[in-house]
Amino acid sequence: MRLRHSLLLPIGLCLFLLAVDAAITMGLVSSMVSFLHHNGRGPFAVAPADGSPFPLTGLPANLVVDQGHTANAAGGTALILIGFGGSIALWLERRSRKKWDRSSPFFHIWAVFVLLSWLLTMVALIYTFVETAKTGGQVIDLSVARANPPPARYPDGRWTPENWYAAVLDLPLASAAQRRVINGNLTIMRAWRWNLVPLFILGFILLSLVVVELLRMRRRDAQPVSMVEVLAGPFKRPSSRGGVVH
Ligand SMILES: *[C@@H]1O[C@H](CO)[C@@H](O)[C@H](O)[C@H]1NC(C)=O
Repeated sequence: MRLRHSLLLPIGLCLFLLAVDAAITMGLVSSMVSFLHHNGRGPFAVAPADGSPFPLTGLPANLVVDQGHTANAAGGTALILIGFGGSIALWLERRSRKKWDRSSPFFHIWAVFVLLSWLLTMVALIYTFVETAKTGGQVIDLSVARANPPPARYPDGRWTPENWYAAVLDLPLASAAQRRVINGNLTIMRAWRWNLVPLFILGFILLSLVVVELLRMRRRDAQPVSMVEVLAGPFKRPSSRGGVVH
């Protein structure tokens, strides 16, 4: 496949979309963190049909949060290193091509970070979905909850915030307003988890575009080369340019 035209424009567009999506991820995760630190702590009034009402503690003792940290790290990396770093790398690349008709080393370094950032997003995606599946489908035992009123935390099980609040909503909550707030914040938790999917796809498209562009630049003036050489880029130019094809 031989491309005549530079892919820098599509790379720039994809970069922009990725940065916007990464910012959305970070915003949603930080909104969840704030909920966990404020109203998410409860207590929530529970009114069982067959017993007296009691206050439910807002948080379980074993709250699983590392998947949220990983997703936040993936979003931050994509926004800062890939989004902001990429804007600079693209600018340097255009300048280098205009002035010296060759690729800039920064563009190659950045390409490595595009790969690493995409891998981190993949880790966050898998980790989050696996933890959510592993801790899903639990129910809050009303007698255990009643025996552990706030400030104690609900002792049983391991819960992601999403699974915990979904189980809270399965209880007969006394207040419709509390139910609405929990429901709205649960949507935010689901949203950041599912948003890892477009983040992953955009990261993959960007990585593909960058690799194709680097290959195109190398093919333009050299014999076929391996991926390793492409990423090593201008640091390691082949000594026999246009020479023997091996
Ligand atoms: C999330 O909870 C906060 C209170 O901590 C509340 O003000 C906000 O409206 C809730 N968000 C949604 C989308 O319901």
